Amino acid sequence: MKTVTDIENMQSYAEKTRREGKVIALVPTMGFLHEGHLSLIRMADKAADLVVTSIYVNPTQFGPSEDVDQYPRDIDHDTTLAQQAGTDVLFVPTDKAMYPQGYQTFVTAEKLTRSLCGAFRPTHFRGVTTIVTKLFNIVKPHIAIFGQKDAQQAIVIRQMTRDLNFDVEIKVAPIIRHEDGLAMSSRNKYLTPQQRSEAPVLYQSLCEAQKMIEGGERNPNVVKKYTQKMIDTIASSKIDYIEIVDAVTLEAVREIKGNILIALAVYIGKARLIDNILIKV
Ligand code: PAJ
Repeated sequence: MKTVTDIENMQSYAEKTRREGKVIALVPTMGFLHEGHLSLIRMADKAADLVVTSIYVNPTQFGPSEDVDQYPRDIDHDTTLAQQAGTDVLFVPTDKAMYPQGYQTFVTAEKLTRSLCGAFRPTHFRGVTTIVTKLFNIVKPHIAIFGQKDAQQAIVIRQMTRDLNFDVEIKVAPIIRHEDGLAMSSRNKYLTPQQRSEAPVLYQSLCEAQKMIEGGERNPNVVKKYTQKMIDTIASSKIDYIEIVDAVTLEAVREIKGNILIALAVYIGKARLIDNILIKV
């Protein structure tokens, strides 16, 4: 595995690889890698000849009250893990190279980014679509892999790829969880031992919601209330949202039917955790 920090080096290496007729897969990450990220890298390794994993804590997707400098980092450990999972090139650009002085161009998806996380983090998806566009132009992938963990992000990226005619196939990989059900996340590091022991309630509440729906409940408000109640049992929790939406349009549904996404974002202490479950009714 080689590490590339320079944008032009990455571009020329990608061009050379494409000229050789090889397939490039990109796995964009912000580092502090865990099994969730590694599952994406392994999927990329199966699908492509050259796997590029990017590690970049993208400042434009953090809001003014969110501390980008506090985001956990461990590049040495990440380098080992990324290589073991099958990365060929680790792309680790600098802030100065990604957003040089005078930078002023942003990519924005509209409707899809206004609900769920977008309602609470109004500039977040603009940062994500901008950085992913830049990564597409730098790494020139045939395939890019995202996790279902960030369900809205995956849908927004698919939409952007279609809208802007990027010649990139978007693949979405399933959520990887700890044994107790908590979705793996770099942000779990912020949890105290007490909060960590309570955090699996998030997934348990989604599973209970699924059971209610399988049992015939079709009223989203009834399901949401029950889920809320379960989460409220965690003293340090603060719910940003629990929503039951159409899995394609992300619009809230009045009746539970078709392909449904139940998505939540909940603060447990300092950590803003997200999780979701897809249900076909
Ligand atoms: P990050 O949070 O580091 O996540 C990188 C990728 O890993 C995303 O596609 C995310 O959905 C996926 N992922 C994270 N936890 C996962 C889990 N438990 N199971 C499966 N996949 C998981 O998402 C970002 O970074 C950034 O927004 C990025 C796309 C890199 C743009 O900056």
